[in-house]
Amino acid sequence: MEEVDVVIIGAGPAGLATSACLNRLNISNVMLEREDCCASLWKNRSYDRLKLHLAKQFCELPYMPFPENTPTYVPRKEFIQYLDTYVSTFKINPLYHRSVETASFDEDVGKWCVLVNNTELGVQESYYAKFLVAATGENGEGYLPETNGLGSFKGEIIHSSEYGNGNKYRGKNVLVVGSGNSGMEIAYDLSNSGANTSIVIRSSVHVLTKEIVFIGMVLSKYVPIMVVDGIVMFLTKLKFGNLSKYGIQNPKMGPFHIKQNEGHSPIIDVGTIKKIKSGDIQVLPSITNIEGNEIRFENGYLKWYDAIVFATGYKSTVLKWLKDENNLFGDNGMPKKSFPNHWKSQNGLYCAGFSKRGLFGISYDAQHISNDISFSLNQSDRNI
Ligand SMILES: Cc1cc2nc3c(=O)[nH]c(=O)nc-3n(C[C@H](O)[C@H](O)[C@H](O)COP(=O)(O)OP(=O)(O)OC[C@H]3O[C@@H](n4cnc5c(N)ncnc54)[C@H](O)[C@@H]3O)c2cc1C
Ligand SMILES: *[C@@H]1O[C@H](CO)[C@@H](O)[C@H](O)[C@H]1NC(C)=O
Ligand SMILES: *[C@@H]1O[C@H](CO)[C@@H](O)[C@H](O)[C@H]1NC(C)=O
Ligand SMILES: *[C@@H]1O[C@H](CO)[C@@H](O)[C@H](O)[C@H]1NC(C)=O
Ligand SMILES: *[C@@H]1O[C@H](CO)[C@@H](O)[C@H](O)[C@H]1NC(C)=O
Ligand SMILES: *[C@@H]1O[C@H](CO)[C@@H](O)[C@H](O)[C@H]1NC(C)=O
Repeated sequence: MEEVDVVIIGAGPAGLATSACLNRLNISNVMLEREDCCASLWKNRSYDRLKLHLAKQFCELPYMPFPENTPTYVPRKEFIQYLDTYVSTFKINPLYHRSVETASFDEDVGKWCVLVNNTELGVQESYYAKFLVAATGENGEGYLPETNGLGSFKGEIIHSSEYGNGNKYRGKNVLVVGSGNSGMEIAYDLSNSGANTSIVIRSSVHVLTKEIVFIGMVLSKYVPIMVVDGIVMFLTKLKFGNLSKYGIQNPKMGPFHIKQNEGHSPIIDVGTIKKIKSGDIQVLPSITNIEGNEIRFENGYLKWYDAIVFATGYKSTVLKWLKDENNLFGDNGMPKKSFPNHWKSQNGLYCAGFSKRGLFGISYDAQHISNDISFSLNQSDRNI
């Protein structure tokens, strides 16, 4: 059994940023991570050609800018390098192979009790802490939607987090389900690798370029979101035209309004639209059912596939381990309160990395949480 001021659960960017901020304030903290390395989402569960979708100035963790020569849109490998440097710079010391099974507030001692499976040694460990920071992420595990007949599919089924590159799909018929950034980019990557690629686009989406997003982000500091959306959508129309004849509809509300209110990001095109327009990538509506290798779609179209890639998003797994008596989180494992009031609960419980605002939100959370903990510790010193 170990007693500390703060336990942080998860060594992704959110946990690392929080630990760095606490270390700067000389507040002792222990970070528990179930995998064998930090940032496992980036190291082990993302595709090779991934780059940060936002320009680097929006993706920095606290107190450490990217090196001078880093490209504006940071490639995965360089982002991983940045995170590894972050760990050594701020003397962060995650404990690996620690899978947290439960964390509950012990009223009698006024502390959080965290029970851990040390999967390396095969033993149980427990930690007691005044403060608990949940940093297991919005992307806890891959989500697969219910699909008629999926069990009968004879080909390969993977989630986007298991997709590395398209090498083994050359000449194969591959269906990508899901039209978020991952789905659109994986479809592009598959097509480039010589796979005969289709993509299911079910809901309406905004497709922008990274340059247009950049303009929007800069503008949104100065003008109302409605104006930003007007300009952004005008520029997008100039760039891509009306995509509805290719099976891509725009939502009624603008992309920045949606990001702010619902947290969904627009699609940032990496070249997929050009391939859709040229017919290299086929756009299809929802799947109605699957039988063996044959998949039927809502428009009646039927095609034989070798593989399906589900790029259908993730779900948070906090409620699998957290005894959340005061309901910081809703049933979906996301905070009930929205930004900027989402990060703090009672009894010293916090969450970092659940604001649907990517690395910018993570930076915000880490600084607010560490300052709040520092404030509480100083208060209690004074009361002694
Ligand atoms: C493909 C992809 C691209 C993205 N691109 C961008 C981008 O360009 N810009 C941007 O701002 N944001 C981006 N994001 C969003 C966000 O910034 C990242 O998801 C980021 O990694 C989130 O960090 P995190 O620390 O909150 O969660 P994670 O990186 O998921 O880290 C959580 C950690 O908790 C660990 N863990 C989980 N459960 C337990 C447990 N029970 N016990 C112990 N450890 C546990 C996990 O192993 C993991 O290491 C992207 C996300 C994805 C999926
Ligand atoms: C943290 O500790 C170091 C070394 O003891 C000290 O120099 C520094 O001022 C401390 N920082 C804070 C914020 O207390
Ligand atoms: C994840 O990737 C890192 C870096 O490549 C590696 O050190 C680590 O062993 C991998 N972990 C797993 C579980 O594959
Ligand atoms: C702990 O983890 C190991 C390795 O993943 C697993 O085999 C074991 O069942 C786990 N123990 C408990 C008590 O959950
Ligand atoms: C891809 O699939 C479509 C639809 O089945 C088919 O018409 C086309 O010939 C295929 N293209 C290649 C290169 O195999
Ligand atoms: C695109 O075209 C469709 C059908 O022709 C039309 O209904 C829709 O309003 C157009 N969208 C825009 C943004 O002009």
